[in-house]
Amino acid sequence: MTVDISDIERILAEQNRWRQTQTINLIASENTPSEAVRRVQNSDFMGRYAEGHPNRDGQVNRYYQGTRYIDEIERMAHDEIIELFNVQQADVRPISGNAANTAIALGFLRGGDTIVANSTDAGGHISHGPVGVFGRRIQNRGQSLKLGAANSVNLHYLPLTPDHYHVDAQKTIEVIDQVAPQLVVMGKSLFLFPEPVAEVAAFCKTKNIPLLYDGAHVLGLVAGGQFQDPLHEGATWMTGSTHKTFPGPQRGVILGNMDAEAEKKYWPAADRGVFPGSSSNHHLNTLPALLVAVREMKQYGREYAAQIVRNAQSLGQSLDELGTPVEAREFGYTKSHMIAVNVAQWGAGVEVAKRLEENDIIVNYNMLPGDADPRHPSGLRIGVSEMTRFGMDERAMGELAQLMHDAIRGKNVKQQVNALRARFTTMKFV
Ligand SMILES: Cc1ncc(COP(=O)(O)O)c(C=O)c1O
Repeated sequence: MTVDISDIERILAEQNRWRQTQTINLIASENTPSEAVRRVQNSDFMGRYAEGHPNRDGQVNRYYQGTRYIDEIERMAHDEIIELFNVQQADVRPISGNAANTAIALGFLRGGDTIVANSTDAGGHISHGPVGVFGRRIQNRGQSLKLGAANSVNLHYLPLTPDHYHVDAQKTIEVIDQVAPQLVVMGKSLFLFPEPVAEVAAFCKTKNIPLLYDGAHVLGLVAGGQFQDPLHEGATWMTGSTHKTFPGPQRGVILGNMDAEAEKKYWPAADRGVFPGSSSNHHLNTLPALLVAVREMKQYGREYAAQIVRNAQSLGQSLDELGTPVEAREFGYTKSHMIAVNVAQWGAGVEVAKRLEENDIIVNYNMLPGDADPRHPSGLRIGVSEMTRFGMDERAMGELAQLMHDAIRGKNVKQQVNALRARFTTMKFV
């Protein structure tokens, strides 16, 4: 008798119905991959191993036999992502954005090193902070490390301009000059505006300091030419998630655009950081799915990313004009896929996010500048990548803004939300 999985299937069917047809999904780190991306994930690759690099030109780079077709797909994914981003180096093996960051930390940093990165209250990802992989580069079992301890990493934060949403390039250069870090990390999770990569990277080069750009959130916007292009502005590595604005499977990537000399100096750190650092076998069934998403972005990336940014700006403006305050008004709210909304006066982030979920609008609560308690944040982070993929445009953003505005104030708009979503269930840009 086969194992009964009907209860599991029922739960999945409910999830699919709820999140694919009823809810308006506005989590900035999420997306729905295309049918083709999903279809190619269910193959024999799911049970295989392929550590190392693909065998190439008769050279053995794998630690396992039986990898000929996996090698073919990995070579294609590697070469085609290089073409998409117009860069020189790629590692497609990290299994997520965090694993890509971990690879750089493991491969490049040593105990006692110093880094400069975004703090979490400036929107930085937790992996950049004291409890993340950068802050705790080396751990001893059973020992909790103090910042600056010999086997940890000294953390300094990127100074911000008074509006709190931009890194202050001049002050950053002064900090780098003072603390002489081994690594500078830019990019973040609440990521509304580009970072001053060109200015900071130019200074870092004079001091021989590499710059890591964490493009987890904005990878798809970079691919579509609608956000800064950090590797062409001078960043050493860019890490990214391949499932946020980049609408692929849940994986990660490291990219570089190094000349031969820089490659010798900085690429081996990424390479050994990935394997045997942060990944061994790398969830092979999702690798062909990455290749599909790369091709989709080659064909539709520019159009898709441009519509995402237009939608985010339009949602920001509509909410703000209705009277639900959106951050960074003086800068046009955003240049990315997300906006930050201040809901402090309606019960703050946690409560309002729950209220929105009761109305089938899915967002996450987020700290805003000046918030001290992460459990009581005053904001919401709202991303439009997924709903843009399902065809929502600026006009639909206007309708959505009104529903959000009402739901935030306690009105029940669930039926209208479901009706709005029902008009946008067919995927575009595929
Ligand atoms: C800036 C940043 N880096 C890294 C990550 C981790 O990415 P992943 O979830 O793909 O591991 C995130 C997650 O949202 C992020 O915001």
